Amino acid sequence: MKTNRTFTMIKPDAVAAGHIGAILDMITKSGFKIVALKYTALSAEKAGQFYEVHKERPFYQGLVDFMSSGPIVAAILEKDDAIAEFRKLIGATNPADAAEGTIRKKYAKSIGENAVHGSDSDENAEIEGNFFFSAFERF
Ligand code: RTP
Ligand code: MG
Repeated sequence: MKTNRTFTMIKPDAVAAGHIGAILDMITKSGFKIVALKYTALSAEKAGQFYEVHKERPFYQGLVDFMSSGPIVAAILEKDDAIAEFRKLIGATNPADAAEGTIRKKYAKSIGENAVHGSDSDENAEIEGNFFFSAFERF
């Protein structure tokens, strides 16, 4: 089922650098509606759960350490074809490969510290949104 929703996080690097407002502005100006929003932080345990699919990858521990290193902003976004549209807006995982005008091109520091997360499928968007938000926190 296509939900037209995706899940995003503004990662600790971009929060620490003061880019929350600029990134949310790019997101809303690109036609996404914010249907849930939270300023929070992931413990190492929670970050480990969130990125469980990458458990066997060599970058997993670094990713968990980074994602639990400071506050993040979590959000659920709505737009037609939200998954693909949002991944277009954020750009490639490695900012060196990210297209001009994308969030990662503008704000990501490296392939590890890459400013934002975007869900890769409708199914994962649902799982990831449920990880952060109760039914009372989404609109
Ligand atoms: P995300 O899940 O955060 O939206 O990023 P993505 O789909 O573009 O990339 P993915 O393959 O899902 O990787 C998740 C996150 O792991 C970190 N990573 N580091 N050092 C490395 O080689 C490496 N590769 C991936 C990045 O923070 C990436 O966003
Ligand atoms: Mg991913």
